Amino acid sequence: MNLRRLRLNSNLRDMVRENHVHVEDLIMPVFIKEGLEGKNEIKSMPGIYQFGEKEFLDEIGECIDLGIKAVILFGIPKLKDSCGSDALDEEGLIARSVRAAKKAFGDKIAIITDLCFCEFTDHGHCGIINPHLKTVDNEATLEISAKQAIVHAKAGADMIAPSGMMDNIIETLRTALDEDGFSHIPIMSYSTKFASAFYGPFRDAAESAPVDNEYVPKNRKTYQMDIANSREALLESIIDEAEGADILMVKPALAFMDIIKEIKENTLKPLCVYNVSGEYSMVKAAALNGWMDYDTLMMEILTSFKRAGADMIITYHAKDAAKLLK
Ligand code: PBG
Repeated sequence: MNLRRLRLNSNLRDMVRENHVHVEDLIMPVFIKEGLEGKNEIKSMPGIYQFGEKEFLDEIGECIDLGIKAVILFGIPKLKDSCGSDALDEEGLIARSVRAAKKAFGDKIAIITDLCFCEFTDHGHCGIINPHLKTVDNEATLEISAKQAIVHAKAGADMIAPSGMMDNIIETLRTALDEDGFSHIPIMSYSTKFASAFYGPFRDAAESAPVDNEYVPKNRKTYQMDIANSREALLESIIDEAEGADILMVKPALAFMDIIKEIKENTLKPLCVYNVSGEYSMVKAAALNGWMDYDTLMMEILTSFKRAGADMIITYHAKDAAKLLK
């Protein structure tokens, strides 16, 4: 058998290439920090910034110029309290930012909002804490999540992406959105999300690490999934599909290729993967040390997500990859 005949030159290799990364697949995360003027580079994520409330619009403008179709917004508010009030306020940081982005760019790019409370609470957990159970209270958090979804939708968000791993969140948000006249707004569920060490740098970027506290452990293991479980991983996404999620997700991505493939083969909704902060930081660190070639490594990773079954990729490489693909 001669398999090398089709590898002989790049024309032939391109003809038989099975998977491609398109700029349309890429979603760029954008961090907006209240009160910041200019931008702050995140130490653990070279090339990624927290932006002020004016400057984040320039970042979105750059994404549009590169052909990127969507950004996902994360907010770092000044006010943090026990229930994440800023996230529930129509004048809060994310509501203002969505309105500003829609005003500036209209339908040139989709504005997705991450729906969670960890950036908005003083304890850094993804919802309201129940001190008796020593965890985030599911029902109380569903209630405020529905409010947050309406705040995002009213502000003009094109898609809402709940990331807190509360049970029944998709059904709750779908019902709330439908009842308030937002049945046209899709929900991208962080359906299969693991409690992962790969989120470390994000928590610097979003200033959302759980803080030391007498009531709850300083990790998210009581709501995010155990990284060792694959049957449960599939179940999480199957349930969210049944509850009405429009897009499913696996997060993190790089160490979870088996999960991506499994979910792709057993569900029918489009599948997003989140190429998370720690995955980006590892690649950047290796590249900055001259240990590996950044562009080649980045494209290998992104292409592998497509091969595993991803339809779209949230990635901090989005702008770099879009430039290469131009
Ligand atoms: C909010 C949220 C997190 C990430 C996305 N949304 C942090 C977390 O769960 O701790 C992580 C993204 C990344 O690491 O790039 N819940």
